Amino acid sequence: MSGLPWVDPVLSQGVPPVLRLEHVGKQFGATPVLHDVDCAVAAGETLGLIGPNGAGKTTLFNIVTGFVTPSSGRVLLGARDLAGQDPAARARLGLVRTFQKSLTFAALSVRRNLALAALAHAGDGYRWWGGRAALRRAEAQADALLADLPLAVRANVPVADLSYGEQRIVDILIALAQAPRILLLDEPTAGLSTAESEQVLALVRERRGDAAVVLIAHDLDVVFRECDRVAVLDLGRLIALGTPQAVRDDPAVHAAYLGGLPEAA
Ligand SMILES: Nc1ncnc2c1ncn2[C@@H]1O[C@H](COP(=O)(O)OP(=O)(O)OP(=O)(O)O)[C@@H](O)[C@H]1O
Ligand SMILES: [Mg+2]
Repeated sequence: MSGLPWVDPVLSQGVPPVLRLEHVGKQFGATPVLHDVDCAVAAGETLGLIGPNGAGKTTLFNIVTGFVTPSSGRVLLGARDLAGQDPAARARLGLVRTFQKSLTFAALSVRRNLALAALAHAGDGYRWWGGRAALRRAEAQADALLADLPLAVRANVPVADLSYGEQRIVDILIALAQAPRILLLDEPTAGLSTAESEQVLALVRERRGDAAVVLIAHDLDVVFRECDRVAVLDLGRLIALGTPQAVRDDPAVHAAYLGGLPEAA
């Protein structure tokens, strides 16, 4: 499974991938950051993306979501080449992400943040002067997103006044408000307690619908438990891609994580 060249099994199984990275490379100036990353995400799967700090994980998300242009290669959503599509256009196509650092409007309430996300998804942008009816609809969607969550009682609280864990829940809800086909999560549990991490992961599991999920996380126990498959980046190269068990047993992965992988929980 490890050692290039190899073919992502999703591509050899005749299942049309929902997302395809075709020989993606990236250089920042003279510095190469990603080399020939070739893989696919299958419909409905949860794919883990792991690798040491600086391996290129976030850069890969930036390329997929259109914040960064690849130096080589292509990104395909279904059969559609995404070249030239900006992040907003990609989000409307269902390619939705969260960020390593939260991007909420800190001074606005939880409900208003979620309503803005719903408005943006509905194509009304941030034009809340577009009509009270549109805003009311969006706020109803916000309340539906919050329903049954402990955070519902804090709907009118400014995001700045939430705990860090609550803010990460808001990040996930903002992503879900955009009806993702593919949900890209960049370290959604970083800095959270075990209990808070479990809340975030449960929310993703319960509300993702049919969406495929790509999960970047440094907690390998979480990745191995949550994911159907795991991709490993090291120094910008995809060095392994397979089931959690196969990746866990891969000597190339152990070599990338000097000191070894943590024991299974
Ligand atoms: N805009 C940029 N300009 C120059 N170099 C960049 C830029 N963005 C990222 N890099 C470099 O690319 C490499 C990969 O960074 P990236 O943030 O993708 O890693 P990562 O795997 O997400 O790391 P971490 O686990 O620490 O979040 C790093 O060496 C980083 O310094
Ligand atoms: Mg990163």
